[in-house]
Amino acid sequence: MDKIKLAINGQEVEARRGMTVLEVAEAAGIYIPTLCHDPDLEPYGACRLCVVEVEGMRGLPTACTTPATDGMVVHTETPAVNKVRCTAVELLIADHPSDCLTCPKNQQCELQKVAAYLGITQQRFRKATGLLPVDTSNPFFNLDRNMCILCARCVRTCDEITGVGAIDLAFRGYESKVSTFNDNLLLDSICVSCGECVVHCPTGALIPKDARQPTREVETICPYCGVGCGIYLGIRDGQIISIRGKREGTVNKGSLCVKGRFGIAEYI
Ligand code: SF4
Ligand code: SF4
Ligand code: SF4
Ligand code: FES
Repeated sequence: MDKIKLAINGQEVEARRGMTVLEVAEAAGIYIPTLCHDPDLEPYGACRLCVVEVEGMRGLPTACTTPATDGMVVHTETPAVNKVRCTAVELLIADHPSDCLTCPKNQQCELQKVAAYLGITQQRFRKATGLLPVDTSNPFFNLDRNMCILCARCVRTCDEITGVGAIDLAFRGYESKVSTFNDNLLLDSICVSCGECVVHCPTGALIPKDARQPTREVETICPYCGVGCGIYLGIRDGQIISIRGKREGTVNKGSLCVKGRFGIAEYI
């Protein structure tokens, strides 16, 4: 029997065995905030934004790493759950610049989205001081560690999707940061500039140079090689200003190489 039934917030939902609680909730249209979760990557369970209450289970398990089981009774919006989520986000914000209006990720940022969802409007913890230098060495994108929430989505992307392993989380505590081998600049690392980590970063920490929002998109196929990756050209004022990999279909599932991601505007 491959099907299971569980209750989420009093709603009976059917699921496939092997799905996580988060996947079941999302399939049923029930929102659970997340930050370190990425549907393209293995479950990680670090940010604790997706905690839920499960009747008969101790503590508050993370929905992104907890397998759904038959008969499970889940609550996604309880005072205890919201307290943990709010504290997690407040700690992230304490270590984060408050200049959303001038951030290229403004209105597309997942940290903004979860803070708004949780109703966080005040700075409860003392702000950490000191700015980290921005790594602008890569010709196509910047790494601004001041905007980083240490979700490791970039690290896991570089490992699980790209298979390069150019970056990792290095050092501990307040010193913790995304780093290359020997803490070199990205340009001096083994990074192949595919930009996959940029796509998977939830904040403005990894961001294309000259990031702007297109006014419309045109679907086409990358002209560089015979693989035929699906792409969307982002158009603004008659110019191509961005490229997005096509997730639908089986050819590239959203991924692109450096030529497709950053070289199209020069080619056309
Ligand atoms: S990364 Fe998000 S929260 Fe941080 S400044 Fe940019 S828009 Fe605001
Ligand atoms: S651009 Fe590609 S190779 Fe470089 S760090 Fe990001 S995912 Fe890894
Ligand atoms: S750079 Fe982005 S993806 Fe990487 S750990 Fe920081 S916030 Fe997460
Ligand atoms: S999304 Fe589940 S722990 Fe981060």
